Amino acid sequence: MKLIQIRLKERGYDVIVGNNILGTFVEFLKKIDSANNIVIVTNPVIKRIWGKKIITLLSKKGINAKFEEVADTEKSKSIKTCFELINEIADFGKSRKLTIIAFGGGVIGDLAGFVASIYKRGIPYVQLPTTLVAQVDSAIGGKVAIDLKVGKNLVGSFYQPRLVFSETAFLDSLPKRELVNGLAEVIKYAVIKDSSLFEFLENNLAKVLTLDKDSVEYIIATSSQIKSRIVEQDELDKLGVRAILNYGHTIGHAIEAASGYSKRYTHGEAVGIGMIAANFISREFDLISKSAAQKIKNLLEQTGLPTTVEGVSPAKIYEAHHYDKKFTNGKNRFVLAVDIGKVKIVEGIPETAIKKAIDSICSQKR
Ligand SMILES: NC(=O)c1ccc[n+]([C@@H]2O[C@H](COP(=O)([O-])OP(=O)(O)OC[C@H]3O[C@@H](n4cnc5c(N)ncnc54)[C@H](O)[C@@H]3O)[C@@H](O)[C@H]2O)c1
Ligand SMILES: [Zn+2]
Repeated sequence: MKLIQIRLKERGYDVIVGNNILGTFVEFLKKIDSANNIVIVTNPVIKRIWGKKIITLLSKKGINAKFEEVADTEKSKSIKTCFELINEIADFGKSRKLTIIAFGGGVIGDLAGFVASIYKRGIPYVQLPTTLVAQVDSAIGGKVAIDLKVGKNLVGSFYQPRLVFSETAFLDSLPKRELVNGLAEVIKYAVIKDSSLFEFLENNLAKVLTLDKDSVEYIIATSSQIKSRIVEQDELDKLGVRAILNYGHTIGHAIEAASGYSKRYTHGEAVGIGMIAANFISREFDLISKSAAQKIKNLLEQTGLPTTVEGVSPAKIYEAHHYDKKFTNGKNRFVLAVDIGKVKIVEGIPETAIKKAIDSICSQKR
């Protein structure tokens, strides 16, 4: 088991990572002085597979817990579901002190965290993430949000959990595509901050993909550590430190938007291709060596991520990249790798270079 502490101005919290550690979850809950009445926000898929285990664990220790289910879709991050959930919670919590457990992937984490941030001007919540994406990324750092029709994550706040508890055994039931989706973010951490994590992935990919316990614990704990250190330096995403987490995301988001957020590309798949496009720009300006860029592409490919975009026109991706919210004051901003383990933020990349980069990742030509 690994314990990572996040130290923030107001209050810190622990990120716990380990395999078969669920038995210790209540101990950690008690440490944070969580309420005796708990609402577990989840979806039917996760409840069916893991629900009984959790509820048994909590009730054995005398905790009064209740499930609140939302549908298994990104659409649950909506105003409607959010307020339905708040009404249910208010009903249960009439005269009781409550704690919320976000039990699921990033959708549940973002939604339940946002609900916790606004209900009664904020009640405590705990992240109990069940996807790799949530364990290495969304559960850590306090960005909570719901979506609007015009865009994702547009209504939200910074609201930190009291605890993040990453039980890696949850990943046993995760579909392969979701695992690979999360691995794109792990590769991102390696490229932005940690060449030894990158080497580890190169040398142990088969073990990671078959969920070897130690390998999985290592990559999740290391990624959590990297994200935690970045969040500590720039909790509110104002100083440009947290911005490096967007490596691969500028064009990645454009690919997602241009394909209409369909199931064609998961977020991780789009970000993987986005990293290749960002590296193309790095190469254009001689920021990264050819061999380092090739190594990154190879690792993405071996992980099972696509390296090119099929069936979406480059023109559409180019158009979509203009709507990215990182596009500020009329100047574009890219996180570019200079080596494996090191990136820099560059503003004002010429549009011709961006077009060329997008063309390079599209099988369809203009
Ligand atoms: N707050 C942040 O910093 C942050 C960062 C990254 C992503 N996000 C958000 O996270 C969301 C995506 O999260 P995600 O990738 O975890 O997707 P998700 O929450 O939709 O989960 C993916 C799928 O896996 C299923 N699932 C989850 N755990 C499972 C398990 N253990 N076994 C079997 N099936 C399981 C879910 O039911 C779902 O169908 C997006 O809304 C995104 O905006 C937020
Ligand atoms: Zn991402």
